[in-house]
Amino acid sequence: MLRPLGVYAPQGDTELLARELRRAAVAPGARVLDLCSGTGALAVAAALAGARDVTAVDISLRAVLATWVNARVRGIRVRPLRGDLFSPVAGETFDVILANPPYVPSESDRLPRHGPARAWDAGTRGRAVLDRICASAPTMLASGGTLLMVQSALCDVRTTLGALQSVGMTASVVARRAEPFGPVMLARAALLEERGLARPGHRYQELVVVRADRPRRGSVHMTR
Ligand SMILES: C[S@@+](CC[C@H](N)C(=O)[O-])C[C@H]1O[C@@H](n2cnc3c(N)ncnc32)[C@H](O)[C@@H]1O
Repeated sequence: MLRPLGVYAPQGDTELLARELRRAAVAPGARVLDLCSGTGALAVAAALAGARDVTAVDISLRAVLATWVNARVRGIRVRPLRGDLFSPVAGETFDVILANPPYVPSESDRLPRHGPARAWDAGTRGRAVLDRICASAPTMLASGGTLLMVQSALCDVRTTLGALQSVGMTASVVARRAEPFGPVMLARAALLEERGLARPGHRYQELVVVRADRPRRGSVHMTR
């Protein structure tokens, strides 16, 4: 993947979500949204998995350009859009939404407007972006559509499941993987412990993929 300076390098969370995407089997012709797309690694994976219509949204212009190039060099059609979460695709619906949003708990609830930290800083509980996605997912999904979203267990998976269920979705954890803290988490270990988000001396986090389905009114888009 081409990765301009400052764009998030695909890593364990990207890989775990891509694996679930493949396992879930995207129906040919599915409309897929890669939310918080970074280099576009997941958008490309969706197209390779058979999606007909792939849109990628990121707030960073560099990420949008990277997605465009990464799709283009593979001869894949992706529609890269710049903007805040669902705003560039307001009024549309998707059969599959993939999201690897920022989820690292940060010093304050003010999110960065520029720079690489925009890819991970997510407010004091790490939920600033996760909560927004959970709230809007049902209106952005077609009937029977599926959200696959990755997060750290440090930022409360039960809240994610509850938020999705409270807006009428079925939601469960479909994948987990323990990973040692990366450089950003390590630098925040004391803060995480102070807030009771990490156990003292514990330098591992569990990555979790949540799957949520909007109740079906018509055709089947994904199978497991
Ligand atoms: C953890 S990275 C994931 C990148 C890519 N999906 C991957 O898995 O490699 C999160 C991405 O979210 C983007 N982002 C942060 N806040 C956003 C927002 N409000 N709307 C859209 N994108 C956002 C960042 O620019 C960054 O590219």
